[in-house]
Amino acid sequence: MSSTLFHNIGELRTVGPHGTIHNAALVADNGTIAWIGSHEHAPDCDHAHDLGGRAVLPGWVDSHTHMLFDGNRAHEFEARMAGQNYAAGGINITVDATRAATTARLEQLLIDRIRAARHQGTTTIETKTGYGLDVESEAHAAQLAHRYVDDVTFLGAHVVPRGANAEDYVTLVCTDMLDAVIDHVHWIDVFCERGAFNEDQARQVLQAGKDRGLGLRVHGNQLGEGPGVKLAVEMGARSVDHVNYLSADDIELLAAHDTVATVLPACDLSTRAPLAPARTLLDAGATVAIASNLNPGTSYTSSMNFCVATAVLQMHLSLDEAICAATHAGAVSLNRHAVHNGLDPRGRPAVGSLVEGAEANLHVLDTPHAIDLAYRPGMPLSWATFIRGEKV
Ligand code: NIG
Repeated sequence: MSSTLFHNIGELRTVGPHGTIHNAALVADNGTIAWIGSHEHAPDCDHAHDLGGRAVLPGWVDSHTHMLFDGNRAHEFEARMAGQNYAAGGINITVDATRAATTARLEQLLIDRIRAARHQGTTTIETKTGYGLDVESEAHAAQLAHRYVDDVTFLGAHVVPRGANAEDYVTLVCTDMLDAVIDHVHWIDVFCERGAFNEDQARQVLQAGKDRGLGLRVHGNQLGEGPGVKLAVEMGARSVDHVNYLSADDIELLAAHDTVATVLPACDLSTRAPLAPARTLLDAGATVAIASNLNPGTSYTSSMNFCVATAVLQMHLSLDEAICAATHAGAVSLNRHAVHNGLDPRGRPAVGSLVEGAEANLHVLDTPHAIDLAYRPGMPLSWATFIRGEKV
């Protein structure tokens, strides 16, 4: 690879120390950002992309997806729209369909889902296991995900599979299942909720992952107030996701600790849940990330553009706040954010902000104004996506 100049950028939202630059240019060299500045001062490069005055953002960091599944739950969704409530048990329907899928089919579904996300500006993806729920199927999902995705999360503790005893299943998750996935995953997650796993069970799962060196994530406070947030903070989880039902104590805890509160606006709409209180969390001082939660039960979309529009229009975030939540804060929740010289805490080129040294992951909008993400919601605004300087 060689140096590439991206110039004639109408509005460059760096979500970093450069802030927003009008009439900007950016240079990518060997996949990372080498220079950022004004269009007039752009250096010569081996290649050039004239972006025609369009707006450029960091690629979206989608820090919560469930991409490995087969089947759909369209009927369940339709019934929900006719008044039924969401219940965690529906997960087992997707488990049946996923276990029945061939490896080739699951792989193709994953590839197609990643491609669709990338074409809508997503450049970093976390994805979870959790529709296998036996040792072989979870290991298989973890291996497959690891081939295509940087951050893979083990979610054996998604729900107790049909016919299993909850305590025995938790033991299996913490022993044989964890052994089977450990070489392919970076994170462990648990659905700590009524109908899924209680606080003690969730703590056991998180501790087992921690003992094996995995980072922790929690699905918490989605269906009602509960122990999810407190447990996540107590255990040092990097993120607690959903957070629809929060007590004043939960908000205080999230404001006072490093655990990121990840909100999932598309899921809230699709389950007709009260929107997670992202505004209140930000005002309290918490770090708020936005993710798609792509899955067939509660959020069958990978459109981060849609999530950002919802966060602005309905959760009352400013555009800057929503973009930061869907890029930098998602990166923080994955430990992929820039801490020094554009490198992440492990010294890799960071993601989620446009700063020298970070990955050249760009989302080019087909408009000069990024505010169009909310001003013209639902319009096809993703014009091009570049990952490490290469067009996808
Ligand atoms: O994040 N809440 C738990 N897991 C998914 C839903 C999975 C499903 O219903 O299939 C979520 O919303």
